Amino acid sequence: MRTSDVVVRRSDGGDRVGLDLLYRDAFPNEPLMPLVEALLDLAEGVTSLVAVRDGCVVGHVMFTRGRVAGSDGPLALLGPLAVAPSAQRTGIGRALVAAGLSQLARCGVLRVLVLGDPAYYGRLGFVTETDIRPLYELPLDWGPAWQSTTPPGVGTLAIRGRLELPAPWLDKALWSP
Ligand SMILES: CC(C)(COP(=O)(O)OP(=O)(O)OC[C@H]1O[C@@H](n2cnc3c(N)ncnc32)[C@H](O)[C@@H]1OP(=O)(O)O)[C@@H](O)C(=O)NCCC(=O)NCCS
Repeated sequence: MRTSDVVVRRSDGGDRVGLDLLYRDAFPNEPLMPLVEALLDLAEGVTSLVAVRDGCVVGHVMFTRGRVAGSDGPLALLGPLAVAPSAQRTGIGRALVAAGLSQLARCGVLRVLVLGDPAYYGRLGFVTETDIRPLYELPLDWGPAWQSTTPPGVGTLAIRGRLELPAPWLDKALWSP
């Protein structure tokens, strides 16, 4: 990985302009900044990490704490994740996700879920999740995109039920094609 010149740290208020530029660059057809802003505005339960090179934000990942009724501890949803096109395929996405999973392990998070391309998240250790259901039913052919992993050092517990998340994630459009 050529990530030695990249620093991964928690985001702060000074990163908002850099985040806006990053999301315009990485997702030109999908305005994700309103979701990012809404999640950052939550008082707690969000882990937001930036990858910074030469003072510029070149990557970002968020994790939102959620729960399944009756489970022994919190869970988290990964998303969004973005790496600037000019910095892709250099290990920044992997580094951001790994740093986030380590932080969540220290917070007692039992499982981390994601709705994304299995060809990518499978490389980061995510596997198809069938016991924990997303907020809304997904199209049948999206099944493999709903995945999970266990943070490092956390034992695998059986968890079954529907994931509950805070308000910014209740927008059904975020869960449909
Ligand atoms: C998808 C994305 C986050 C990947 O970030 P990245 O920093 O380029 O990924 P990494 O360099 O850490 O790659 C990690 C591994 O995944 C592979 N990989 C990278 N992009 C991939 C893709 N689109 N599909 C499949 N595998 C991919 C890499 O080759 C690498 O594999 P290896 O370590 O086994 O050799 C980035 O390309 C991006 O932001 N894309 C635009 C937005 C998007 O599609 N986001 C999806 C997440 S919501």
